[in-house]
Amino acid sequence: MKILLTGGAGYIGSHTAVELLSRGHQVVIADNFCNSHVCVLNRLKQITGVEIPCCQIDIADPCAVGKVFQQQQIDAVVHFAGLKAVGESVSHPLPYYRNNLDATLTLLEQMKKHHVTRIIFSSSATVYGMARSLPLTEESEADWCSNPYGWTKLMSEQILKDAAAADPALSVLLLRYFNPVGAHPSGLIGECPNGVPNNLFPYITQVAAGKLPCLSVFGDDYPTPDGTGIRDYIHVSDLALGHVAAVEYSLNHTGVEVFNLGSGTGYSVLEMVHAFERVNQVRIPWRIVPRRPGDIAICYADISKAGKVLDWHPKRTLEDMCRDSWRWQINNPEGYAG
Ligand code: NAD
Ligand code: WQD
Repeated sequence: MKILLTGGAGYIGSHTAVELLSRGHQVVIADNFCNSHVCVLNRLKQITGVEIPCCQIDIADPCAVGKVFQQQQIDAVVHFAGLKAVGESVSHPLPYYRNNLDATLTLLEQMKKHHVTRIIFSSSATVYGMARSLPLTEESEADWCSNPYGWTKLMSEQILKDAAAADPALSVLLLRYFNPVGAHPSGLIGECPNGVPNNLFPYITQVAAGKLPCLSVFGDDYPTPDGTGIRDYIHVSDLALGHVAAVEYSLNHTGVEVFNLGSGTGYSVLEMVHAFERVNQVRIPWRIVPRRPGDIAICYADISKAGKVLDWHPKRTLEDMCRDSWRWQINNPEGYAG
């Protein structure tokens, strides 16, 4: 199949490109590089031996997106393109709604115009809001978010569901990612946050590298065994393989399906810190600070549906996540900019 990856130069998109190519699919990337670096394309060539066609366009631009569909015979779209910083979405909500919703709407309109019927959407566990029971299944309530970023995911899901209800030819797969971490084992591609990282794992790797002095652990008074927050961390290469499975599933299925993509296991912040120290033989200075507003105590997935329906089973361990993140960090101390 020939797959269009919107936002394909980003963290999850670039890893997905590698796994799709290794399964014999063709890939086209469309990205405006607002949160990625053009040199990802060279790195992808080093890993796969393939020069991936890339269009530098805004997915909210109908002419530019239409041109891609005209020029390339696209069988399915994986829609990664979007802004993703939770805190920034609270301080600047309008650009988040504008970018993320316009991109989804434009893409769907152009897909319809050019008779492309399969879309796999990057959603997030954030749509579950405050978990009422655990583990989270695809049937758990997903009707409230604590931040504008999350609302753009929930709203995009609704737009995609409505589009599928109106067009029986459409295949819509909503993939709800939990906490993606790690990097490709080559150390050539990985997560490259702008400025000081907001998320735990890139923060830990930068503390380990001496770029940041100390990890602030947000709260030790949660109802968890060590008092720190519990999340479901998933290796980005396993997550990428989830997209391969979803793309292949979409070939023979129409309608809407939702899938949780996580590891199914929760680890606390301090468990992550200790695992990282043990696996990589480094020290992570940390101190407890007050809870981060909006954080929940515990979040982890029931991934049995993706196992049964997509035959997707994440294999990489917590050790793999720690080792691969660290390799990416030490090989690329300044990220792609270096
Ligand atoms: P990322 O920022 O690394 O990648 C997103 C890519 O989209 C970037 O390359 C960016 O330049 C591009 N982009 C953004 N808006 C665009 C537009 N209008 N037109 C063209 N390109 C545009 O993020 P990621 O971590 O790879 O996440 C990919 C998707 O998965 C996002 O939609 C994100 O919200 C979602 N997601 C991420 C996580 C996570 O923790 N990383 C968790 C759940 C869901
Ligand atoms: C993990 C744990 C923090 C940083 C976010 C988004 C979510 C999704 C994934 C896109 C929590 C703690 C963190 C730090 C800490 N993204 N922590 N010190 O909050 O689960 O999810 O990323 O869809 O939408 O909300 O991930 O990595 O920020 O935090 O103690 O410096 O680490 O409190 O318990 P989160 P995270």
